[in-house]
Amino acid sequence: MTNATHKPDFSERVDQLREYIFSQPSSTFENNPLAVANAVESFANTKGQMMIFRDAKLQVARTQLEAQTPAPRTILEFGTFVGKSALAWGAILREIHGEKISGGINMYTFELDPQMVALFRDLIKLAGLENVVHVLEGPGSESLKKLHAEGKVTSVDMTFFDHWEEFYLPDLQLIEDLGLFQVGSLAIADNTDFPGAPQYLKYVKDGGRGTTGSVKYESTSFETASRPGRPSIFEISKVVAVK
Ligand SMILES: C[S@@+](CC[C@H](N)C(=O)[O-])C[C@H]1O[C@@H](n2cnc3c(N)ncnc32)[C@H](O)[C@@H]1O
Repeated sequence: MTNATHKPDFSERVDQLREYIFSQPSSTFENNPLAVANAVESFANTKGQMMIFRDAKLQVARTQLEAQTPAPRTILEFGTFVGKSALAWGAILREIHGEKISGGINMYTFELDPQMVALFRDLIKLAGLENVVHVLEGPGSESLKKLHAEGKVTSVDMTFFDHWEEFYLPDLQLIEDLGLFQVGSLAIADNTDFPGAPQYLKYVKDGGRGTTGSVKYESTSFETASRPGRPSIFEISKVVAVK
């Protein structure tokens, strides 16, 4: 991934992806979020340079989510892009809680770019995830503050950082300051090798704010070798204490 000042222009790719998905029979995807997520990844594989959270990493994260007790009910994601990971988180929540998933189980994903938001809203509908997955346009920190003020997010079981890396640490600390983590909550951060998020990584590897802080982490780096030479390391940090 790149940073805000060197952001590549994905607008043509987004239009091509829309065409790729919506030119296929809708029955391929209806009520099948993983089929939509897989189609996004297939498209990305043909195009290259699509900054999605790929399946090899997702399978590691899935195992951690499935092991959570109690089962995860609220997931945050910073950085929707074309929605590959958000579709997958929604699918995992639905698998964990069953097809008849009802209120109180939510995945909120935050995205700056209105074109991505518009595409993803259509993908959510196609996948039948409207009751679980919600995309909010704008800086993730502002969207989260609003959701918290409205009483819609009162705790977080997993947060996924996959936006611009300079925001990983401030957004993690925002979640701490809002008091949203509990013991067992997970913070997953992608691309910690390239372009890298050194301040974030040091913070979680050190266990958090230390003696002055209220949240403590145990943190592990995971490496996937699915695409040699490409960013392959991500970080999973587990909340082990909340004072
Ligand atoms: C690496 S992509 C996300 C990939 C996505 N998670 C997936 O697997 O398909 C990063 C996205 O984060 C968005 N972004 C960057 N900074 C942001 C912020 N502060 N709040 C919300 N979105 C942000 C960018 O516009 C970009 O679309």
